[in-house]
Amino acid sequence: MTVTEARIIKFPIFKDKRGSLTFIEELKNIPFNISRIYYLFDIRKGASRGSHAHKLNEGLLISIVGEFKVEIDDGFQKKLFHLNKPNEGLYIPKMIWRNLFDFSDNALCLALASHEYDENEYIRDYDSFLKKVIKDRNLK
Ligand code: TYD
Repeated sequence: MTVTEARIIKFPIFKDKRGSLTFIEELKNIPFNISRIYYLFDIRKGASRGSHAHKLNEGLLISIVGEFKVEIDDGFQKKLFHLNKPNEGLYIPKMIWRNLFDFSDNALCLALASHEYDENEYIRDYDSFLKKVIKDRNLK
């Protein structure tokens, strides 16, 4: 997968005098089935998260409250996103290295994942990630 396949997806807003509502439906406004939801909260000042890629998992990151940045990397190219709206999410395909950083004080990051948690499908070592990217490209 390449960083060009990652993208911001905007969700519709229903706004009236009570406030706003948005929604996400699997395979309708996001391109995968949702197997898992997790969220990051109480994020320490200056902390970064991520620093891994997934062999299988596709995901979507949303800044529900506050803001943060995400750098994604396919081994050849990097791209930076600034997430700061509850009605948009960053879609990240499998085999993309990601780093989440510059969290605001109150940040709440919601993550939707295509697969159940399985530590075996994580790649947490950047050199191993690069080796797999090169191997996968040469096999195609
Ligand atoms: P980690 O992968 O370090 O989080 P991040 O991607 O935000 O940097 O996960 C922290 C811990 O939580 C680690 O021990 C694995 C565990 N974990 C689960 O048990 N289930 C999950 O769905 C996730 C995302 C993490």
